[in-house]
Amino acid sequence: MRINSNLWNRVRYAFWAPIYNLVAWPMQRMRRRAVTLANVQPGERVLIVGAGTGLDLDLLPRGALITATDLTPAMLAKLRRRAERLGASVDARVMDGQALEFPDGSFDVVLLHFIVTVIPDPVRCAREAARVLRPGGRAVILDKFAPDEGATPLWLSLLNPPASLLATNVNRRLGPIIAGSGLRITREEPLAFRGFFKVALAQKD
Ligand SMILES: C[S@@+](CC[C@H](N)C(=O)[O-])C[C@H]1O[C@@H](n2cnc3c(N)ncnc32)[C@H](O)[C@@H]1O
Repeated sequence: MRINSNLWNRVRYAFWAPIYNLVAWPMQRMRRRAVTLANVQPGERVLIVGAGTGLDLDLLPRGALITATDLTPAMLAKLRRRAERLGASVDARVMDGQALEFPDGSFDVVLLHFIVTVIPDPVRCAREAARVLRPGGRAVILDKFAPDEGATPLWLSLLNPPASLLATNVNRRLGPIIAGSGLRITREEPLAFRGFFKVALAQKD
């Protein structure tokens, strides 16, 4: 089985699903900042790609029209239960973030939280996010990245083989993922570990 594949993602995230919220909870402060940057208004159509167990749902305003997609049924099952507990109406669908089954321009906002470092082809994922956004729509990318400039730091090169086997790549760069996607980064903020975790707000022109 190839590690950088949808098949492996489904297997490993089915394993992570029962404990994902515990592991991801320390990132909630960063998530809050990302959702603040998205500035979602009631009535706006929001797509969460690779939505996982739905930790973003707590932070989105009631009245937002939320669609959540993920490749792993076990993660989405948790998301559906979370939505129910929160009383949030969410259209949750199993879907590949590299081939979104929505027409062009379907959404006002797309959230890409901790997905472009997990999905096999992040460039395709960013292009798809741009395609389904309306002109003027915005995307928020929250993740951990190697610096755009210079050589990849040694610690990331050493950490990447076990990290990418178990959960996520740690050596991807934001710039090349977004370049040519149809998205333009309008704001970028370091969040933790000297900018290893960062958030970017992007716009579809
Ligand atoms: C690190 S988790 C992030 C979950 C969520 N976005 C969050 O912020 O907590 C990565 C998620 O990406 C999903 N995933 C992996 N490959 C995918 C693909 N090709 N399309 C959609 N989702 C995918 C996994 O099932 C998992 O739920």
